[in-house]
Parts: sequence; structure tokens; C-alpha cells
Amino acid sequence: MLEIADLTIRYGPFLAVDHLAISVGAGEIVGVVGPNGAGKSSTVKAIGGLVQPKSGRLVFDGRDLGMVPPHKRVNLGISIVPEGRGLFSRMSVDENLVIAGDPLKDKAKCAHNIERCYEMFPVLKERRWQPVGTLSGGQQQMVAVSMGLMSDPRLLVLDEPSLGLAPIVIGEIGRALGELRKQGLTVALFEQNAKLTCSIADRIYILAAGKVRHHNRAADLLNDPEILDHLV
Ligand SMILES: Nc1ncnc2c1ncn2[C@@H]1O[C@H](COP(=O)(O)OP(=O)(O)OP(=O)(O)O)[C@@H](O)[C@H]1O
Ligand SMILES: [Mg+2]
Repeated sequence: MLEIADLTIRYGPFLAVDHLAISVGAGEIVGVVGPNGAGKSSTVKAIGGLVQPKSGRLVFDGRDLGMVPPHKRVNLGISIVPEGRGLFSRMSVDENLVIAGDPLKDKAKCAHNIERCYEMFPVLKERRWQPVGTLSGGQQQMVAVSMGLMSDPRLLVLDEPSLGLAPIVIGEIGRALGELRKQGLTVALFEQNAKLTCSIADRIYILAAGKVRHHNRAADLLNDPEILDHLV
């Protein structure tokens, strides 16, 4: 579904992503794990069209994304949940979801998708009229994931959803991703938290200094304490 080949991203002279190759197959949950500064967010932004790569190719469903602007990538079925969540904190949960549903250009579909988000995260329904800035960190992350789902994506790309969250909330987000996969969604999960990612993903790429250092099935990695302990 998504093929990233030879991706290189520079900020001035600084090399942030170095000939990266990652593939995500339809129906998979693929984890990309790496420490601070590994190049996770840069790669996510390149998928969303928010940074211009120095070189390399991004192909989605056989289509080269090189000349496709960010909003058209959403229309193709790619949705990004950015690091830092990208919420409108003074607006209510409902208002945030309506904004995220705008690409649908269909009010009834938008209302339907909002209800689906509330089924997935019932606590958000209780708080639907509350400004998002007054919610807990975990609830805000649920809003961010919900916003990512509003445009009916086929590929959901998450940038460090677990950041700053308590383990119980991380478990809740993991559960939701598992549910979504059962419904046919493909997920690319960029994370520092290796154990969380291995517990959710099918395959894992380990990233350091902009390069893939290791690639394996998540189940095999969970049995490889040398690599896992090194990461956590
Ligand atoms: N706008 C920018 N200008 C200059 N350097 C940048 C910029 N954005 C990122 N970098 C650098 O590029 C490298 C990769 O950054 P990136 O944000 O992609 O890493 P990351 O894996 O998401 O890290 P984190 O876990 O801290 O979010 C880092 O060394 C970072 O300092
Ligand atoms: Mg980042």
C-alpha cells in the first residue's frame, strides 16, 4: 500500500533521514521505532507532504506521491496524526471532529463518523461539548486519533501517540488500533516506545540516525531481548 524508497531528508546541511526504505502492506500494522532525533517525525511529514524530501520516492497504491499536495494525499486515503496532536484546544471535541471531517464534504457522513469515534472512545462522547484543552492528555490523544479517522482513511499514520501518557491510556489507544485493523485499516505507527509498538504491530523497523538498522516481525523482536532491551 505504501512504499518508501531511498528517502533522504535534509535540513540545510543536516541529514535527518538517510536513504530510508520502508513498506507497509494493506491491512498491516507496521511499527517504526527509534529514539529522539532518529527521523520519525521527518518521515511522517514526508508521507503527509509537509516536508520536501531531498531525494527518494513515496508510492501509495502504485501512485507516486512526489507531486501530490498534502490535501490531495488526504483525499487518496492517507491520514496523519501528528506529534503534539494538532488539536484546536479552545474548541470542543465535537468541533475538532467536524473540522477533521471537512475533506468528506458530506455532513451526514461526517455525523456518522463522529458517532463511530464516540463508539470507539465513549469518554469523548461524555465530553463532546468540552474544550479539548481541558481534557486529560490521554483523552486529547483519543481526540487526535479520532480526527485522523474522520476523513475515512485507508492508511493511518501516527507520530508518537504514546508520548507523555500513562500505561493504562496507552493500552486503550493500542486496543483502538487493534479494533481499527480488524475493520480493514492499515496503520503505520512511529514510536519511541518499543514494547508498546511490538505488542501492537505485525512488523517493526528500528530506526537510528535516519537509517533502518533492523527489520523484523514484531513477534520475533519480542523474543530478542538483546535488541529490545537496547531500545527501551
Ligand atoms: N526543522 C528542522 N530544522 C533543522 N533540523 C531539524 C528540523 N526538524 C528536525 N530536525 C533534526 O532532524 C533530526 C530528526 O528529527 P525528527 O524530528 O524527524 O526525529 P524524531 O525521531 O521524530 O525525534 P523525536 O522522538 O524527538 O520526536 C533531529 O536531529 C532533529 O534535530
Ligand atoms: Mg518526532
